[in-house]
Amino acid sequence: MRTVDDLQALLDEACRWARESARTGKVADYIPELAKADPALVGIAVHTMDGRVAASGDSETPFTLQSVSKVFALAALMKVAGMKALAGMPCEPSGDAFHSIVRLEEERGHPRNPLINAGAILVSSRLPGISPEEKAANVSGLLSDILGADVQVDDRVYRSESATGYRNRALANYMRHFGLLDDPRAACDAYFRQCALRMDAPALARVGLFLANGGTDPLSQHAVLPPACARAVLALMTTCGLYDQVGEFALSVGLPAKSAVSGAILAVVPGRMSIATYGPALGLKGNSVAGMAMLEFMAGELGLSLFG
Ligand code: DON
Repeated sequence: MRTVDDLQALLDEACRWARESARTGKVADYIPELAKADPALVGIAVHTMDGRVAASGDSETPFTLQSVSKVFALAALMKVAGMKALAGMPCEPSGDAFHSIVRLEEERGHPRNPLINAGAILVSSRLPGISPEEKAANVSGLLSDILGADVQVDDRVYRSESATGYRNRALANYMRHFGLLDDPRAACDAYFRQCALRMDAPALARVGLFLANGGTDPLSQHAVLPPACARAVLALMTTCGLYDQVGEFALSVGLPAKSAVSGAILAVVPGRMSIATYGPALGLKGNSVAGMAMLEFMAGELGLSLFG
C-alpha cells in the first residue's frame, strides 16, 4: 500500500492512467455551453486534513460545479434549517437518471433525494432570500468563505442552461402541482445559478475538506455544518451521489462522492482528505469516465474504500 508521502507521484500516475479512458466518453451537450469543453482534459487535486495539497494534469482548468453544487446548496440550507432541510424527501437512491421525472409521478411530487435534479431544485427554492440571485448567493457565499476568494457564476453557462432547461422546469412545475414549491421559474433560476458556479480542481478539493472533518474546516477551524448534518451529507453522497451508477462506484471506489455533467467529481475520505477530479468526457450515466478511473486508482493505491 502507498502512503500520502507519495502524493504528487500518485496523482501524476492517476492522470496518466485516466487519459486513455477519457477517449471512451463524450462531453455533455444538452447544455450547449458545456459542449465546448475539450474531452481530452484530465485533472486531479487533493487536500489532506493536515494541509498537504497536490494537483496534477489539467487541474488549473476551471469548470462549473453543476451537480456538485447540490452538495453545497444542501449544506447552505442545513446551516439555517438543520436536518429539516430534508423535509419531504425520503433520502433513498433513485436508481434513475439525474433528470428523471418518473418517480415524481409515482411519489406525489416528492423527490427521492436532494442530489437528483428534482430534489436539488427543491433545496434551492428553500434557501434563504427572496430573489433567485439571493438564494444562489447562499451557495457562493458558503464556498467563498471557505476559499477566502470570490466564487463567481459563469454567466455564459448560466444563460446557456437557462435558455435550454425545459426538463428541469418540467420537474419544478411537477413539484409545484403538488404544492412542494411556490415559483417553479424562480426555483430553477436559483438552481441554474448555483450549477454555474465556477472553480478549478484544487479549489473544489479545498471546499470539500470540511466534509472530511465532521463539518468543521480543519484548516481554519471554521464550523461550516454541525456534525450530524455533515454525516447526513456524506451518507447521501455515498448512496445517491452518482445516480444510477452509485452501486458500481461503491464497488470500485467505495467513497462518498458527487459527480457533475461538467466532468467534475468531488470525493471525500472521512478523517483523511478530499479529492477533486475533472474530465469532461462522460460515460453513459453522465459521470466523468476519467474521474471515475482516477478515483478507482487512488482508492486502490491508498486503500481508501470505506468498506475496508
Ligand atoms: O440540471 C442539470 O441538468 C445540470 N445543471 C446539472 C446536472 C448534473 O451535473 C448531473 N450530473 N451528473
